[in-house]
Amino acid sequence: MQDSGGVAVARALKHAALCLLLLPRFLLAAVMLWLLDFLCIRRKLLLKMGQAQDADDPPVCVSDANRMFTVESLCAVWYGHKLDFLKSAHLGHTAPNTEVVLVHERRRVRLLDCVKGKRPLKLVRQFADIADFLVVYIEEAHPSDGWMSTDAPYQIPKHQCLEDRLRAARLMLSELPASSVVVDSMDNSSNAAYGAYFERLYVVRDAQVVYQGGRGPEGYRISELRHWLEEYRGSLRPAVLHV
Ligand SMILES: *[C@@H]1O[C@H](CO)[C@@H](O)[C@H](O)[C@H]1NC(C)=O
Repeated sequence: MQDSGGVAVARALKHAALCLLLLPRFLLAAVMLWLLDFLCIRRKLLLKMGQAQDADDPPVCVSDANRMFTVESLCAVWYGHKLDFLKSAHLGHTAPNTEVVLVHERRRVRLLDCVKGKRPLKLVRQFADIADFLVVYIEEAHPSDGWMSTDAPYQIPKHQCLEDRLRAARLMLSELPASSVVVDSMDNSSNAAYGAYFERLYVVRDAQVVYQGGRGPEGYRISELRHWLEEYRGSLRPAVLHV
């Protein structure tokens, strides 16, 4: 009895420490979202971000109709910070081999067992000789019953069951039919292990995390990944000795 009381206190203390640690970055993000609701600030900032961006990177677009500072957005941001802080994937360490589900076969497999696949996207084609690409579809960043965005091309509510998630992934596959897509399991273990929410890029080699992109959308940099892959390709070339 006393033991379980001790465990409960330890858990509460741990939770309180986590909240304290996350509070500064959460407040900063909250202030940013609040500022972004002033349309003049939003337009200026998006313009500036667009100008600073590489052509490879997806533009961050937020239409005027979207409110950024809402209960849903704050919950989503808090959740994202928490996942990022608690993730187990770290640069130079073993890549978490979480369970995912194959979209068509509905079979459960381990993430690292399904990296061999087709290579359809532009970046994917360009680096097909040195890398396999896999999309792990996690929970929706902007579900129609959560932090809704009018810029989202589809109305997808929060997945209540695996079938919901598979259906949404098939929608994605219908646009990019040749891509390798698996879905996160309903306990969201890949999302948690990789701190993936809202979106994130990783490179795994020999079961080790060798590239870890920033938290999306602002840290989601395809240009950075391209640069990494170019360097990697260079490092694979045999050294030529000129005599
Ligand atoms: C995983 O995410 C979905 C939303 O897509 C949610 O409905 C579900 O409850 C989450 N599972 C856990 C264990 O948190």
